[in-house]
Amino acid sequence: MKKAVPIKPFWYADVVVLPKLITIITTIDKKGKVNAAPYSQFIQYDVMNQNPRVFIGMRKFSHTYQNIAATGEFVVNFPPADFLEDMMETCRFYPEGVNELEHTRFTQIPSQKVAPPSIKECGQIIECKLNKQYELDKIQGHVIGDIVALVFDEELIELGLEERFRKLNLPVGLGDEKRKYFYYGMIDKVEVHELKPPPKNKKMQGEIKTGMPWDKKALQSLKQVPSAIRSMVVEMSEDIVKEEGADKMTYERYMKLIEEYAPPDMMERFEDK
Ligand SMILES: Cc1cc2nc3c(=O)[nH]c(=O)nc-3n(C[C@H](O)[C@H](O)[C@H](O)COP(=O)(O)O)c2cc1C
Repeated sequence: MKKAVPIKPFWYADVVVLPKLITIITTIDKKGKVNAAPYSQFIQYDVMNQNPRVFIGMRKFSHTYQNIAATGEFVVNFPPADFLEDMMETCRFYPEGVNELEHTRFTQIPSQKVAPPSIKECGQIIECKLNKQYELDKIQGHVIGDIVALVFDEELIELGLEERFRKLNLPVGLGDEKRKYFYYGMIDKVEVHELKPPPKNKKMQGEIKTGMPWDKKALQSLKQVPSAIRSMVVEMSEDIVKEEGADKMTYERYMKLIEEYAPPDMMERFEDK
């Protein structure tokens, strides 16, 4: 039997088990004083590369929210699991103007494109400029940030995904009890599951609709794209060339796009079998 439970404040933390990312957001105030605090209500907001953006949910009164309003910049640092105690330390209610990082083992380093510092011990860092900030209600505020730099420890960049997440060793937030006892998990067992191509579906193999003229050879190549994702490929490709000022799709430009965004092993999983 399933049963509904009452929805209480902080339902996401101590009722629903909702695994979360752990980040430390660094900001500065108008006078340049550094602030750092953990934030988990963090998610990708625009996943494409033209306007890559992130979303963060905050309390309106937090120093982080206020600093972002004042300076328009912030840095999202991803601390490794062996720095959990230090991450928790940045959460203590230090008065305004106190640099929480000075109470931890973290080392402050200059960021690449924004004024707030980055944290050296974090192998993955996202530097952001404010895109939009608004109040959801009397307590909560939302921040949408434009990503201006994705920064990694150099030795991580060439690694495959699995090696990279093992090296990054990010903890997973598992919720908290009474806003006092915070639970974390570490990644130790990992499985890979391959997504298989969909079964052949005749209905999906209809005509090709484009929003601009495509030259004959480009159109021919488009037919090679699995039907399940063909209209998405058309839309994305046309958006990109439109932004470049073109009003038609040439074969050469299309092939370059395919090379960049849709390598053969990625397309394989959509193949009409
Ligand atoms: C693991 C963890 C995750 C947190 N995530 C958030 C969050 O996403 N949003 C939020 O408003 N507060 C969050 N908090 C609480 C803030 O970190 C806390 O209110 C902090 O004192 C704010 O500091 P500030 O005023 O310097 O910004 C989190 C705390 C912890 C320990």
